[in-house]
Amino acid sequence: MTTSYPTSLFSSNLEFTGENQYGGALSIAGCSAEKLVKEYGSPIFVLDQDDFFLRTKAWQAALNESFGSGKLYYAAKSFICVEVAKWLKELKVGLDVCTGGELAVALAADFPVSDIEFHGNNKSEAEITTAVKNGVGTIVIDSFDELSRVVKIASDLRKVQKVYLRLTPGVDAHTHEFISTAHEDVKFGFSIASGDAQIAIDKCMTETSLNLAGIHCHIGSQIFEVSGFELAAQRLVAVLVAFRDKYSKELAELNLGGGYGIAYTKNESAISPAQVIPAIAKVIKSECEKAKLSVPKISIEPGRAIVGPTTTTIYVVGTTKSVTLENGAKRRYVSVDGGMSENIRPALYGATYSAFLANRNSSANAISSRIVGKHCESGDILISEINMPEDVKAGDLLAIPATGAYGRSMASNYNHMPRPSVIAVINGTAREILRRENEDDLLNLDVIQAPRQLS
Ligand code: LLP
Repeated sequence: MTTSYPTSLFSSNLEFTGENQYGGALSIAGCSAEKLVKEYGSPIFVLDQDDFFLRTKAWQAALNESFGSGKLYYAAKSFICVEVAKWLKELKVGLDVCTGGELAVALAADFPVSDIEFHGNNKSEAEITTAVKNGVGTIVIDSFDELSRVVKIASDLRKVQKVYLRLTPGVDAHTHEFISTAHEDVKFGFSIASGDAQIAIDKCMTETSLNLAGIHCHIGSQIFEVSGFELAAQRLVAVLVAFRDKYSKELAELNLGGGYGIAYTKNESAISPAQVIPAIAKVIKSECEKAKLSVPKISIEPGRAIVGPTTTTIYVVGTTKSVTLENGAKRRYVSVDGGMSENIRPALYGATYSAFLANRNSSANAISSRIVGKHCESGDILISEINMPEDVKAGDLLAIPATGAYGRSMASNYNHMPRPSVIAVINGTAREILRRENEDDLLNLDVIQAPRQLS
């Protein structure tokens, strides 16, 4: 059996009636963009629920095919809300959270706590206490300070906490510096090369309030080359072998994190589960066989590869203007009703996206255009350079696909912009799963308080 995987780069149920390369009248899972905007306003994130389920199942299927089983954890940081946590519960996959806030969403969704993994390089005492008290399945320890903190909290609560150690295998993932996480000079984890990983393992083994069940690494995000994952797997298996040799027993679990790259424009391609998981499995199985080690229970934590392609942002065009560049060429600015507050990725990482007309098609000449937001910054650019029909005008809808990961989850209120809603669509029906903020939500934070002496 081969893994079925949505081959579509963007949400599988994206359809443009009368489509040409610049777009058409868009519907997603049978819901028209125009009607969605009429009902819910703009900008909106439209999440294709079937596509989300399909992609989640594809990663799980790839694990099952390559390893016989394996645990899939969805990385909540890419996008989470209570409804999505409920979908994941229904899909019987685990959840990777990395703050008390993400944990609170999981708890509010009544997500099975034993299927939660708690990450983060600076978990507070309060966060660890909440996690241990609630029975969170695995805490992934990231530093020596945290190790002591977990020991103290678990023993005070008279619990034995299952933990992993996050290790840095010294792999230089080829991605943006800000999202590359496993070379030596990073804030995350215990370095294998420096010996810190071994010291942390030895320390865990002396602590009766910890059950060290496995090791973890995450080499970075938006990665397309299989080789980085293979090298990390090889280095982590070497740690498992050293553990077995020292302690005469095996550490049973190995978590290889997330980071699988997706396409943001039609010229790019994604790394598929059918491509990367068998490659990782091959390395792990051969390294284990060489060392006569049992193949550990494998888990992975994709976020972007699941939710990224499922979601499309729809904007309304507000203004356009043309400028003449120094070389005499013309550029047209198309301003939409959002910007860097609901998609910081172009400004932060130089990320590229594509945009399509979403309310009609156009056969007008295409001209060089720049899609910008409404924030008071010149850097508020969503797409630096794209050919769009020259008749794009105020009132038109623009769709930017593949915005499901790290869009809404990294959204800010810059310029006091309320964050957009997320609408789930399926079989011609739509429902809001995260409502739009309003000005009252923002004003609710303002406090009028008399000055007082601190005690
Ligand atoms: N596991 C761990 C421990 C992580 O730190 C991350 C992402 C993931 C899993 C999921 O990675 P994914 O499969 O989604 O690539 N804001 C950046 C991405 C930051 C990723 C942080 N960690 C962006 O917008 O590209």
